[in-house]
Amino acid sequence: MNFLKIRFLNAWVLSMPGFSQRHVELPSGLECDLALSLVGQPLVRQQLMKGLQQFLHSPSPAKPLVLSFHGSTGTGKTYVSSMLVRHLFQGGLGSPYVHHFSPVVHFPHAEHIEQYKENLKRWIQGNLTSCGRSAFLFDEMDKMHPGLIDVIMPFLGPSWVVYGTNYRKAIFIFISNAGGEQINEMTLDLWRAHRDREEISLQDAESAISKAVFENPQSGFWKSGIINEHLIDFIVPFLPLKRHHVKQCVVNELVQQGLEVRQDVVQEVADSIPYFPEEEKIFSSTGCKTVASRISFFF
Ligand SMILES: Nc1ncnc2c1ncn2[C@@H]1O[C@H](COP(=O)(O)OP(=O)(O)OP(=O)(O)O)[C@@H](O)[C@H]1O
Ligand SMILES: [Mg+2]
Repeated sequence: MNFLKIRFLNAWVLSMPGFSQRHVELPSGLECDLALSLVGQPLVRQQLMKGLQQFLHSPSPAKPLVLSFHGSTGTGKTYVSSMLVRHLFQGGLGSPYVHHFSPVVHFPHAEHIEQYKENLKRWIQGNLTSCGRSAFLFDEMDKMHPGLIDVIMPFLGPSWVVYGTNYRKAIFIFISNAGGEQINEMTLDLWRAHRDREEISLQDAESAISKAVFENPQSGFWKSGIINEHLIDFIVPFLPLKRHHVKQCVVNELVQQGLEVRQDVVQEVADSIPYFPEEEKIFSSTGCKTVASRISFFF
């Protein structure tokens, strides 16, 4: 483990209950990792660092940090969430303070929803009681049964204490494909207007995403109080990736696997991926999701 990582992990650990550290340092290792490895998502980087800066610099945050990642498949949502917890918690996703939920694994049966609500509430309450600096990741929110997630509402707000414990140091991350269509539409509109995809207005994207997930019964946030009560601090839009981003993903993957960076492989993998819209073929339909498996055909 490098020096930087130890320093930042220490800063995080020192902020746990029982330590009197006044400030938690911003994990600049994360900033570098995002800059080096995350392709084509400067807004994600910007939103994430802003959110963490405000939250981690406060010895007593006003409320838990609630982030919601939206975007179509393969744009880096799961990738960024695991990078984030890797920098904040020793052991990353394997840390006892990081709790990862996936509806198909943890809440598979609609008929048990009441039991799931009870279990989820108890799980969060119990874990926040033992460690206030915990993270809860809800992946594939669009597969979550409508109404289930609202059970965690009391933990997301600014209340000093809920059930006798201070829950304002926790981090909650929702991850979802819902809203992806709206982001892609907005990005396409910019492209048609000969403007850069990164010129997308965060404010417009946020309101389009909030509206879309609130009105969609298959978003996990259908008519949710979490949206209505504005409990999400940062809605983070993941933009669709262009061909040159896919190429960068191929290069990154080759380097990471210790393979030779062959231009023919980079080109062929990028060419083999489907792009939309049908006619112009500008944005990757699967982001960088299938890059790693496609590379394996060449070696
Ligand atoms: N923006 C990106 N920069 C670099 N690599 C990326 C990016 N997006 C995706 N990847 C690569 O593709 C893989 C799959 O991405 P990831 O699992 O994060 O997609 P996702 O947005 O969570 O998709 P889904 O909605 O299908 O779950 C990652 O492990 C990473 O290797
Ligand atoms: Mg994912």
